[in-house]
Amino acid sequence: MKFFIDTADIEEIKAAKDMGLLDGVTTNPTLIAKTGKPFLDVVEEILKEIPDKPVSLEVASTDFEGMMKEAEYLSKLGDNVVIKIPLTVDGIRAVKHLVDEGIKTNVTLCFSPNQAILAMKAGATYLSPFVGRLDDIAHEGMELIRQIKTIKDNYNFKTEILVASIRHPMHVVEAALIGADVATIPYKVIAQLAKHPLTDIGLERFLKDWEKVPEKPF
Ligand code: G3P
Repeated sequence: MKFFIDTADIEEIKAAKDMGLLDGVTTNPTLIAKTGKPFLDVVEEILKEIPDKPVSLEVASTDFEGMMKEAEYLSKLGDNVVIKIPLTVDGIRAVKHLVDEGIKTNVTLCFSPNQAILAMKAGATYLSPFVGRLDDIAHEGMELIRQIKTIKDNYNFKTEILVASIRHPMHVVEAALIGADVATIPYKVIAQLAKHPLTDIGLERFLKDWEKVPEKPF
């Protein structure tokens, strides 16, 4: 499973990159706004740090013409830019056009299997179902991932399932069990994945016992 980081915060991107496991970055208008910096400054910073792995940048228009104009602008910022497009009728139309132009896309705000079929049929590079936001309204987010995986396998769709709106480590574990292609994870959750109280207790005991070993080489 590929690990993307879901943030526009350059320090978080650097920290995840330092772990050596980072396969890409996803942003959205909310994450960019959180930085408090001008849009282009944020994007340049990210693309300088991650020049050769997919970086999703989202359009702000909701009509076909506007999305296409913004997609063309954003795709010129870097060869690794992936255009994030909302799952609407205009959005799907834009994805189809961008696919024909060889531009990579990430269809976002997917909440149902019927929406997923459209994005996969349009040839999106990635499809982002939002599991956390479904959980928030008492729907099982991970059930959607299971359904999308079945549809993808039934028709051998090439679109990668990119599990988004991840809130905790179990979302990552379940995504991996289902066989999702990508999880886009907030930095906090990436760090949580490494944590286990028995690891901490075990390490403490080993270190204490290590003190008792005579003639240590280090
Ligand atoms: O980037 C899209 C998605 O991951 C947003 O997550 O936590 O705002 O629902 P969240």
